[in-house]
Amino acid sequence: ISIEKFIAGIPKAELHLHIEGTFEPELMFTIARRNNLKINYSNVDALKKAYRFNNLQEFLDIYYAGASVLIHEQDFYDLTWAYITKVNEQNVKHVEIFFDPQTHTNRGISFDVVINGIQRALIDGQRKLGISFRLIMCFLRHLDESSAFKTLEQALPYKKWISGVGLDSSEVGNPPSKFQKVFEKAIEEGFLTVAHAGEEGPSSYIWEAIDLLKVIRVDHGNRCLDDDILVKKLANLQIPLTLCPLSNLELKVVPDLKEHPLVKMMERNLLVTINSDDPAYFGGYMNENYLAVAQALHLSKKQIVQLAKNSFEASWLSKPEKQKIM
Ligand code: ADE
Ligand code: ZN
Repeated sequence: ISIEKFIAGIPKAELHLHIEGTFEPELMFTIARRNNLKINYSNVDALKKAYRFNNLQEFLDIYYAGASVLIHEQDFYDLTWAYITKVNEQNVKHVEIFFDPQTHTNRGISFDVVINGIQRALIDGQRKLGISFRLIMCFLRHLDESSAFKTLEQALPYKKWISGVGLDSSEVGNPPSKFQKVFEKAIEEGFLTVAHAGEEGPSSYIWEAIDLLKVIRVDHGNRCLDDDILVKKLANLQIPLTLCPLSNLELKVVPDLKEHPLVKMMERNLLVTINSDDPAYFGGYMNENYLAVAQALHLSKKQIVQLAKNSFEASWLSKPEKQKIM
């Protein structure tokens, strides 16, 4: 059995996925056309040619521009449903997905429109395809604290749909400490917390995410290996890291996948998982991410199975739900 088929056959969970990052160029043009909006590129090929990034910010600029053609609830439904059908083909059984409400509310789209479209598609995925899900609302860290507070306020009526809050966008210069009060309030309201940390930013941001934001999972966390005490803490507490190999490669977080820290982290007993981050922009969904690291780092089948097991272990499924799938 080929490594491709082996990976494709294993049940997996995806824990680090921005729904706006699944916006495929073809669907983007379709939705732009029906909303009478213009895209800055003449066609799908021209748009795809622009997907070459030297860092996180160059990606974010294009990612926010792409999301700006999403206007109606049906647009958010179509976006989410396209992702669900894609992962269904890849034997992904459970997804915990991020959405960025401020990307939409800041251009006049109401919070309700965004969440209703996403939630309806997730429910359909559960009913029709048996894919379970959690929804995580991210605050954009390049915006200020008051905007995050306002967003948290807007989320309160939807508490039963939103399992947790996260933190994404431009990392360097926007440390977790900037959002300590917002996260305190979110925890009081019953949300679980995660944060992007140590992608481009230093290991001290991972400390802040754990100590100040009380995160129970770290998104990326690549830079933890710079700090031995931090690695021991993450390992002892088995705080999961949601790694995104193709994202790291495309955003030049690693120069080559052969230098990806995944195996070093496994050797240090960290609970690491493989995820796709923004698959429409980085050239691969779950199976492509697994395959790319398996080949670059010569992973054994045992290591690949361990990574898939980790994805359920690190998920927010209940114990009985985990036992049913694993
Ligand atoms: N938003 C979408 N993808 C992101 C990433 N990889 N890092 C930070 N913010 C993001
Ligand atoms: Zn991310």
